[in-house]
Amino acid sequence: MNRTAIKDTVNKVGETVTVYGWVNAIRKHGKIAFLDLRDRSGLVQAVDLTGEAFKKIGNEYVLKVVGLIKSRPEKMINPKIVTGTIEIEIKDIEVISTSLESPFPLDTDGYDINEESRIKYRYLDLRRPRMLKNMLIRSEVTSFIRNFLKDRGFIEVETPILTKTTPEGARDFIVPSRLQPGKFYALPQSPQQYKQLLMVAGLEKYFQIARCFRDEDPRHDRAYGEFTQLDLEMSYVEQEDILNLTEELFTTLVEKLFPEKHLAQKPWPRLKYHEVIKKYGSDKPDLRKNKEDKNELAFAWILNFPLFTEQSEKDYFHGSGKAKFAPSHHMFTAPNPDDIALLDKDPLKVRGLQHDLVLNGYEVGGGSIRIHDPKIQEKVFELIGFNKEQKAQFEHLLTAFKYGVPPHGGIAPGIDRLLMVLLNEPSLREVMAYPTLSSGQTSVLNAPSEATPEQLAELHIQVSRSKKPAK
Ligand code: AMO
Repeated sequence: MNRTAIKDTVNKVGETVTVYGWVNAIRKHGKIAFLDLRDRSGLVQAVDLTGEAFKKIGNEYVLKVVGLIKSRPEKMINPKIVTGTIEIEIKDIEVISTSLESPFPLDTDGYDINEESRIKYRYLDLRRPRMLKNMLIRSEVTSFIRNFLKDRGFIEVETPILTKTTPEGARDFIVPSRLQPGKFYALPQSPQQYKQLLMVAGLEKYFQIARCFRDEDPRHDRAYGEFTQLDLEMSYVEQEDILNLTEELFTTLVEKLFPEKHLAQKPWPRLKYHEVIKKYGSDKPDLRKNKEDKNELAFAWILNFPLFTEQSEKDYFHGSGKAKFAPSHHMFTAPNPDDIALLDKDPLKVRGLQHDLVLNGYEVGGGSIRIHDPKIQEKVFELIGFNKEQKAQFEHLLTAFKYGVPPHGGIAPGIDRLLMVLLNEPSLREVMAYPTLSSGQTSVLNAPSEATPEQLAELHIQVSRSKKPAK
């Protein structure tokens, strides 16, 4: 297709070009009409000297415009747009598609527009320059991560979405099986077990830009439904290696893609859980020196977490109903080797080899060195009160660990949460293409929806009349 991107028109003074895009705005001055045309690359002003084109166009129409690029007189230059020194004198205009009036303005930042409407018409909402920029930067961030890790010998692997429960502490989404009626898959809360099994498989350095699914109460920094992690795992490493790799990755990423930002501290501070709790009353303190500065990034590591937290009766982990202890991070985190003897004597005193990454008051990543000794793994299962059936759910891992397992560990920074902070956005939804509302309703397609009686019959599922959500 003979098409000039709008941002490139600025270098083509004196040439006749063909541009395609949306009508961003129309202004009429007497007989002459001006229209701003927009594509992904930017905006350009086109002049309709006859006033004819004006009669057949409206906002957000898609046009093909053939025209001559002319320099603007000095006093007409618009420094706010990339093509502000030129304009297109329209020779021919073709309406490719018309548009209804947009339900909300697209040339504002959009923060004050009702969110349900923005989510319903997300394909329009994403046209606003702020959202387009967020999508572009997100893509640059994931490309940077991929290149960085591939250069260091990591292998990108996709792990299953239809799987078995992966207990990261939230409720699972479950999917009924047609071939085995009455049985269910669970969507992964993270690829935790698969990545550990990849270490048993000998991949040594794995990563994935992984979709994770958690049925938990949403907050501005916690997505309901799905979100994305940079999931990574390495064999033959100590905690130090994971911290150094992550720190180098995000320091260079910020330097390259966010040059306007500065780090509050370099190298990142490494703080002890108990001290942080004592000093800041939170395990994700905001360590910025100046909280008004939107370009300050205060990364920090939180280390020396206890392996277990004490449970009250009402929050018994996974409803086992007996255990006094729940894992602080997850049940695969290794105890500090100096504290192994305490597992029997005083479990709450055992430190875990967990590392949390915090940024400006948000937990943007978590990981650990893992247990690779099946006996210790079984001991942890006991301490968190797993009964025989619950233990059997993890038999595959214990079996795999009997076939020569390298020591391993990893981390999973949350991509959405990291981008939310880097882009100074007030919520995760601003950095996701198709987020879910807090009601659980998805963008545009409006899921969940009812299944047909035929689908339900095939799955041997009956829906009871009560539709009240579980507490
Ligand atoms: P964890 O559960 O701590 O660890 O999650 C890691 C990071 O993922 C992000 N995150 C979320 N982001 C948006 N919405 C959510 N609902 C949400 N939940 C978590 C956070 C968090 O720090 N398998 C382990 C990682 C490991 O041990 O390697 C795990 O998933 O930024």
